[in-house]
Amino acid sequence: MIFPSDTYKRMTSSPGGMKFIHEVIARSIKLKNEGKEIVDCGLGESSHGLLAKVIEAGMEALKKDEFYYVRPTQGLVELRAEISRQISKEFQLSVDSENVIVTPGAELGIDLVFKSILNPGDEVVIFDPFFIPFATIAITYGARPVFVDTFENGFLPSLKLMKKKISKKTKIIILNSPNNPTGRVFNKKLVEEITFFAKERKIYLLSDETYCFFDFEKIFFSPFNIYPEGTIVVRSFSKQYSMMGYKVGYIVSSTKIANYIKALQIPGWAAPRISSLMALAALKSSNPQSVIENYESKRDNLYKGLNEFGLVDYLPEGAFYFYLKCPSGNSLNFALELADKGLLVIPAFSTKNTHVRLSYGAIEKEQIPKILDAIESVL
Ligand SMILES: Cc1ncc(COP(=O)(O)O)c(C=O)c1O
Repeated sequence: MIFPSDTYKRMTSSPGGMKFIHEVIARSIKLKNEGKEIVDCGLGESSHGLLAKVIEAGMEALKKDEFYYVRPTQGLVELRAEISRQISKEFQLSVDSENVIVTPGAELGIDLVFKSILNPGDEVVIFDPFFIPFATIAITYGARPVFVDTFENGFLPSLKLMKKKISKKTKIIILNSPNNPTGRVFNKKLVEEITFFAKERKIYLLSDETYCFFDFEKIFFSPFNIYPEGTIVVRSFSKQYSMMGYKVGYIVSSTKIANYIKALQIPGWAAPRISSLMALAALKSSNPQSVIENYESKRDNLYKGLNEFGLVDYLPEGAFYFYLKCPSGNSLNFALELADKGLLVIPAFSTKNTHVRLSYGAIEKEQIPKILDAIESVL
């Protein structure tokens, strides 16, 4: 008889609502198979398509049959050099390419960061609601997620509440702005307050900047600006360049942490070569302004309806999510009811069970009336 490992048990009982997600997705697949049309506002995907130069780079790599593994494991030299050039410019700092580690997606980047610095018993401060893997990965390595509630503060972190959760065991505070699942972007003053506190206490900051491109009000501010020695930045090509399935992300950190991570990166875990070449082409081109305008316009149209229904009371400044309050207070039931009406949304993303996340990343503007009709029909 084979029993699951303790890691399995820890991961599968991790907070955030992963079980609910499986349940709602299974329901929507069943309905689809039965022929029902489902508008997919479930997974966080962008849909503006690959840039022409990115497709060209991928085709070129295929033609040359670039079959070999990426060496060194921390990423294609040219890609890391371009990231270091752009990051140095953005932060007005000299960031060496040795401080940049390319990973097969940002999620695996988070995994490597936690694996390299967390010990069993360490505490990881997470603002609730949250991107579920933050908690799951921390728990995998025996650390304890410590949640700071933001529900009463418009989903913005409160320094006062956070300080109450800090202990001698606090190893990392996670900032995720623009935020998944709330769409909030934390302003400079707020980021500065948290960052100065972390710096004074010598606590690491993990800054997940996966959505920094989706910053409609130009509010985004990275803690790396003021605490580069203790901030670990994680970014991704997935959403900004619609490259989800190509799996490329990267970490920017101090030399000390970068060296830990390099030592842990098993050679087979490098980001794929073809994806890395496409990511390099993406960095060298840029999305036209119309891309961001299109997301902003979808946000504005949806907001009007969702706000009238009383499901959301703030305009999300970034990412491509709405975090909706469920009238019955039960997110799983609300999501299942909506699936039956032809709309897939994801419940929870929290220790609470009161909200669902609606992703408008991959929908067309023309689908908005259908989304609002489905919601209205269950209110
Ligand atoms: C906050 C956040 N971080 C990281 C990721 C993962 O990105 P990647 O596709 O690069 O693994 C996501 C994807 O949804 C995300 O929402």
